[in-house]
Amino acid sequence: MNLRLRTAERASRSAGKLLRDMLGSALGVRSKGLRSNLVTEADTASERLIREIIGADFPDDAILGEEGGTSGDARSGRWIVDPLDGTTNYAHGYRCFSVSIAYESGDGLQVGVVYDPMADELFSAAAGAGAHLNGAQLHASARSDLRDGLLVTGFPPIGADDDLENLRVMGRFMRRAQAIRRDGSAALDLCYVAAGRFEGFWEAGLHAWDVAAGALIVNEGGGRVSDYSGAPLRIDCGELIASNGLVHDAMLDVLRGEK
Ligand code: IPD
Repeated sequence: MNLRLRTAERASRSAGKLLRDMLGSALGVRSKGLRSNLVTEADTASERLIREIIGADFPDDAILGEEGGTSGDARSGRWIVDPLDGTTNYAHGYRCFSVSIAYESGDGLQVGVVYDPMADELFSAAAGAGAHLNGAQLHASARSDLRDGLLVTGFPPIGADDDLENLRVMGRFMRRAQAIRRDGSAALDLCYVAAGRFEGFWEAGLHAWDVAAGALIVNEGGGRVSDYSGAPLRIDCGELIASNGLVHDAMLDVLRGEK
C-alpha cells in the first residue's frame, strides 16, 4: 500500500470539506502583490490543516506550500501543496476550485491527488500505478485531430506576464480547435485532460504547486505533459502543455506559431 497516497487523499478530502464549509463566509480576501493575485482565509486555513495531517504521518518530510513556503529539509523528497487552486473562483463563489497535493522524491513525482470538493471528485495517481477518479481507472481521450479537440487554458494574474502574447496564442488555438474553455483551476484542468474531458491544456506563468499533482495524473492517465518546446516537464519551469498525447505535436505547432 502506498502510505503517502493514502495520506494525500485523506488530507485533500479534509481540506476540501473545510473549503466547502467556508465557501461564501467572510473570507478576508487580500491580494498578494498584484491586485488580481488573491489569497483568502480559506487558503491559509486549508494549508494549515494539510500541513498538520502530513506532519503527523511523515514528520521528517519537507513541505512546499503556496501560502507557507518551504518547511523541512527537501533533499530526500518533498510534498508540494496548493491548498486552494482557483482562489479567484472561490472568492467569487464560482464553484470550480480544488486542493492539490503531490509528493516528489529524488526519482521524480511519486504521488498526486487533486480533490474537487463541490463535485466530490478525487483524482489520484501513483507513479507506475495508473490514474484514478474516485477509484475508477482514468484514460485520456482518443481524439487524434485537434479540430475535434476541446481545449482549456488559463492566464496568470493580470500584469504578471505577457498578456498580449497569451492572447495571440489563444487566438491561434481558437482557429485550430473545436472550442476553448478557461475554468480557473489549473490542477483541475490537468485532471480533466487525464479523464478525457479535455483533449489538451496549455498555460504559462504557473507554479510547481499548480501543476505537480495534475502532471503525474495526466502521465499516469496515458496523456503527455511537456514544456512549450516539447521537452519533458520540469514542474517549476512555469509553462506547460498537457494533452491526450495524440494532439500534442499539433498543439506544439500552434504554440510555435506554425499551422
Ligand atoms: C491559479 C489557478 C488558475 C491559473 C493561475 C493560477 P491559485 O492558482 O491555477 O487556473 O490560471 O495561473 O495562479 O492562485 O488559484 O492557486
